Formats: sequence, C-alpha cells, structure tokens
Amino acid sequence: MADSMVDRKTRPATPLKLDDFEPAARAVLPQAIYDYIAGGSEDEAALRGNREAFARYRFRFKVLASTDQIELGSDLFGQRVRMPVHLAPTAIQRMTHPDGELAAYRAASAAGIAYALSTLSSAAIEEVAAAATGPRWFQLYMHAERAVSASFVERAVEAGYSAILLTVDLPRTGRRERDIRNAFSLPEGLRYANLDARRRADAAEGPDPFAQNVNAQTNAGLGWADLEWLVAKTSLPVIVKGVVRADDARHAVEAGARGVIVSNHGGRQLDYAVASLDALPEVVQAVGRDVPVLMDGGVRRGTDVLKALCLGAQGVLIGRPFLYALAVAGAEGVSQMLAMLRQEIELSMSLLGARRLSELSGDLLTRI
Ligand code: FNR
Ligand code: LAC
Repeated sequence: MADSMVDRKTRPATPLKLDDFEPAARAVLPQAIYDYIAGGSEDEAALRGNREAFARYRFRFKVLASTDQIELGSDLFGQRVRMPVHLAPTAIQRMTHPDGELAAYRAASAAGIAYALSTLSSAAIEEVAAAATGPRWFQLYMHAERAVSASFVERAVEAGYSAILLTVDLPRTGRRERDIRNAFSLPEGLRYANLDARRRADAAEGPDPFAQNVNAQTNAGLGWADLEWLVAKTSLPVIVKGVVRADDARHAVEAGARGVIVSNHGGRQLDYAVASLDALPEVVQAVGRDVPVLMDGGVRRGTDVLKALCLGAQGVLIGRPFLYALAVAGAEGVSQMLAMLRQEIELSMSLLGARRLSELSGDLLTRI
C-alpha cells in the first residue's frame, strides 16, 4: 500500500486521456526537445487560447435519440476515413522516437485516418509512402525557389499522396523563446530528409538555429500568386492550412483551394492570434458547405472534436498529443492514443444524442 502511494507520486500515471501522454513524454525526452514541441511563441497566449476556446462551449444534448449504433466514418477529399481526426504535419518526428514519421503514419493508417507529412520531415516522402497504405497528405512549405517546391509536389504525386496542404501562416518562424533559451537546433544525427545536402546545411547557426533553418526553407514573400501557381501545377486537391478569417478563406477558394484548415499553427506563430475554434464559424460560413473546412489547435478530448464538428468542421487535426504518444511508445503509443480518442468520441456522441457526424450542428451547443 505504502509502495503504491510512493509510485503514484513519482511516476506519471498510465495514460487514460490524451493529456496524460504529456508528462509521460516529458519524462523521457531531452528538455530542449520537449520545449520545442510543447512551446508557443512569445507570451504563449495563442497557445493557451486554443484550449480556453473549447471550455467556453457547453452541449445542449438531446435524449431518447436511439444511439446504439454510432457511425464516425466520412468521405474526405475523395477518400474514406474512419473518424474525423487526422495527424497534423509536424517537423522532424524522429526527434521523439527513432521510428518517427514511419511509426506515426502506420498508426494513422491502422486507425483509418489521414497522416500529413511535413516538408520538414526526418523520413523522406517516398520512405513514408512505403510504410503503410492509408490516406496520406503532403504538407508543403513553399521555398523561395519555385523549382524546389515543384520537385516536392512531383515527388508527392509520384509517391501516391492524395492532397497537398499548403501552410500559409509561417512567412517566417514565430519567436519561440523557449527555443532561443535552449539554443535549440536539429538534434544530432537527424536531418531534413526531403532536402538535398547543400540546402540542409543552410543557416544552421545564430541565436535560434532551428528557426534560422526553417526560415531558409520557407518564403516570407509568399503571396496569392504562389497559391494560384500551386493549384495550376498539380491535379491533387490543394488545401490551405493556417487561415483564420472569412476573407482569406474566400480568397483561397477563389484561387482554387479545395479545402481550408483553420489554424494558428498551435500557437507557435503570431502570438495573441485568435483561437482556431473561435475563427472556425466565420470560415465555414464564408466558404459554404461544399468546401471542407478542417481545424486544429488544442484538440485534446472527444468532446473537443464534437464541438468543432458542431461548429461546421468536417474534421480536426491533432499535433502535440500524438508526438507525446510517439515519444512514449512509438506506433503502439499513437495507436493507443487514437483508440482513446475514438472511444471518447463514441461515448460523447451517444450522450449528446447524435448517431452520425451529419447530425452534429450548432444547435447542440451553447456558448457561456
Ligand atoms: C507543428 N506544426 C507544423 N505545421 C506545419 O504545417 N508544418 C510543420 O512542419 C509543422 N511543424 C510542427 C512541429 C511541432 C513540434 C508542432 C507542435 C506543430 C503545426 C501543426 O501542424 C498543428 O497546426 C498544431 O500542432 C495543432 O495544434 P495542437 O494539436 O498541437 O494543439
Ligand atoms: C514549427 C514549424 C517547423 O512549428 O512548422 O516548428
């Protein structure tokens, strides 16, 4: 008895919910890597705001709704997905676990959801494609040289990726003060697997080496003409990631985007950016029902997923929780985490009185 009480104080509890993976990951990751993942920019107000926004909604649940069968599947960008939760693109996943992207993609595939591979991945486009068979999307950071971006897109098409997510909220890397304090740089032995050796060596010095490196791979001059160029360049659906305004969302669709992801990059870019959940309704209204809108930022519970769907999202992405699960137990950890989230969604759908995703609507929510 006394022993188990001691254990409980010193060891992180067995994960029961997504947030439990964070302390477990923190216990196994080097501090600078944990900080890079967990942190946001400047005062981290946007980071906190993403979570706070979910807490302002309450459910007006329905009863006697015959919820013995719950269906979580839907069609997204021409593919069947088994639940409305997908893995967000994040850089250099081998910093959390040796199997990195390969493990995360395998877990996503096994769960029947989409995996988004970052341009700045530590396993190459082709290597990841060969690791599993489920839906895979490629996230593009456009390079200042269009030829570099063009080659990424060609490789993604060739390797069977089904959508290009163009991230637009990072003209330059946000100021992440944890990383500056830690002089965070690419961990020893890891590399940007999609870039050739000459480019990988770019700008790896300075007070904030990681940010310098990312800046060298992205383009502060990015404009609407670049989106048009990308849409003309590929037959794959282009989804614009990092939009929080109706006018930008409309503009993106007019330029040929086939979907929009409402996101403030997990609070890592502009600090005091509006919370993703709060920006969602205006974007949904702006683009209409025919253009899928996804969101990310602060999704940690099945009820969070349901709130986003009630506000018009067709799905959500999660970032940090799967990185923590990956750090703790590789593909197995991510699978466990996704299974937890699925159970939470199913249970909460039943308690909410909804049998399928199409029954989720704003009528089921109230804002406090
Ligand atoms: C990211 N994100 C990100 N986005 C992107 O388009 N390309 C990228 O390479 C990265 N890299 C990245 C690294 C890390 C460590 C994190 C935490 C995030 C942003 C990511 O796709 C997503 O928008 C947020 O992570 C969603 O917020 P939550 O779920 O982490 O709260
Ligand atoms: C980040 C970049 C790489 O958020 O997207 O760290």
